[in-house]
Amino acid sequence: MASIFDALYLVDKRTDTARAADICINTGIIGALGAALTGLADWSETYGRPARVGVVHATSNTIALSLYTTSFFLRRRRRSAGMLASLAGYAFATIGAGLGGHLVFAENQGVNHAAAEDLPTEWIRLLPMDELMDGTPHRAKVKERDIVLVRNAGKTYALLDSCAHLGGPLHKGTADDCSITCPWHGSRFSLIDGRVLDGPATSNQPTFETRVIDGYVEVRAFSAEAP
Ligand code: FES
Repeated sequence: MASIFDALYLVDKRTDTARAADICINTGIIGALGAALTGLADWSETYGRPARVGVVHATSNTIALSLYTTSFFLRRRRRSAGMLASLAGYAFATIGAGLGGHLVFAENQGVNHAAAEDLPTEWIRLLPMDELMDGTPHRAKVKERDIVLVRNAGKTYALLDSCAHLGGPLHKGTADDCSITCPWHGSRFSLIDGRVLDGPATSNQPTFETRVIDGYVEVRAFSAEAP
């Protein structure tokens, strides 16, 4: 927006237009500081390639922020130099935005890692009931998706295994009477309905209906038709 107002200012030379550009720059600088803090919090929980892309993303945005801040000061004395500095800032902000999009859409950062898609609505037979030990999470596979089974006080619970937060393996976590805790960052989900009981996860964990037929545990995703 600042660049658009700058371009208009070059045409109309009106003080109001220049002031509009300045307000955009000031607001953007304040917003960028908040975004940096939330970005840092997200980055602190990433590993490997996403963490490296995150460093480049943060570097681009930091350069952009420095250039916009330089522009903020320059605009008071040499508006044309300030306009050039903000244009350079825009270029770096665009690179940073592209990398931010890559982190979300290609690296799956900051998204729900337990999307309830393509889950079976028909009953799937998994394993003999006596292979499940009370209170010990057990991994099983349902149509290429890992799920975690927990037996407790005669009941069997089933949730998607990949933690909604960042994909941690719930079957390596700990279970108690009513919940299971992710081993990576400690999110806790209700065994009954997958509700988030403790963060950092913000999305609920998909759950399955379970039944025991002929001594075997069977599961299916909850559906509108389910009784
Ligand atoms: S992956 Fe972070 S709490 Fe599960």
